[in-house]
Amino acid sequence: MAEHGQHILALQQCGTGTVTATIIDGTAIAAKVRAEVAAGTVVYSAQRGSRPGLATVLVGENPASQTYVAAKQKACAEVGIQSFGHHLKAEATEAEVLALVQRLNADAAVHGILVQLPLPDHINEERILNAVSIEKDVDGFHPVNIGRLGMKGREPLFVPCTPDGSMRLLQEYGATFAGAHAVVLGRSNIVGLPAAMLLLKRDATLTVCHSRTKDLPAVCRQADILIAAVGRTEMVKGDWVKPGAYVIDVGINRKPDPTRKSGYRLVGDVDYDEVREVAGFITPVPGGVGPMTIAQLLSNTLRGANASAPAG
Ligand code: GUN
Repeated sequence: MAEHGQHILALQQCGTGTVTATIIDGTAIAAKVRAEVAAGTVVYSAQRGSRPGLATVLVGENPASQTYVAAKQKACAEVGIQSFGHHLKAEATEAEVLALVQRLNADAAVHGILVQLPLPDHINEERILNAVSIEKDVDGFHPVNIGRLGMKGREPLFVPCTPDGSMRLLQEYGATFAGAHAVVLGRSNIVGLPAAMLLLKRDATLTVCHSRTKDLPAVCRQADILIAAVGRTEMVKGDWVKPGAYVIDVGINRKPDPTRKSGYRLVGDVDYDEVREVAGFITPVPGGVGPMTIAQLLSNTLRGANASAPAG
């Protein structure tokens, strides 16, 4: 989408005053990815006589997790992927979860295994994620996949969906990675850390910020690409952002809003109204990174299916 860059330039040249950022349309790009997956599943099914399959593993009754897993299953159905939902009680033992994962590893109809996080406290997340076959690790959370992501000259089989979706958005809107200064706010295993490794793989110069970083605004102001994934409502302000920068907002936070029936609205880690006056490109919340997470999961599941050994 190189035309977006030209659009910004035209606005600046005709002197219209405030330049507002191009909004990165995650819903539209996600729809494009889903359409690619739907087309791929048609080909897969014609060749193999079966559908790609995703198994979801949900343990306990976390309402947010239940919503996310339901959304993933619905998205599977829409693109022709079969989903196998497994819902264990909150009291399920670690051995029970491990046994389920091992059963799914051995099931030829399952090409992707998604263990929804967080798991209940009594279950060791590391042991469960270690047990997922790397060929079915569509979340990209297995230490071998994460390790390969971090190493020069190695390629993981799968990359975590949210950071991969963020990279796709940047790419679709014409971002240059090589030599760009990328700043990642947050170092979580699910988003911040893999996002940083992806940017490094694409030859960005990288700074990773966290709760102990000194003078966060000054560090962020250096960013050509700023990825915010800290879970703090509207933390990134307009004067934290370099004019023209790409700003990717991974946060999904509830902000009290008495005008809404629910009493809140969803906002990101970025103060959208301020930052859109400074940035060149910005993702909205909702409608930015969020839709990409599921789209990448579908894409990974199809890839896992295509890489699997044909039956017989
Ligand atoms: N919990 C929050 N985000 C994710 C995700 O991308 N995958 C899984 N499995 N759990 C999550």
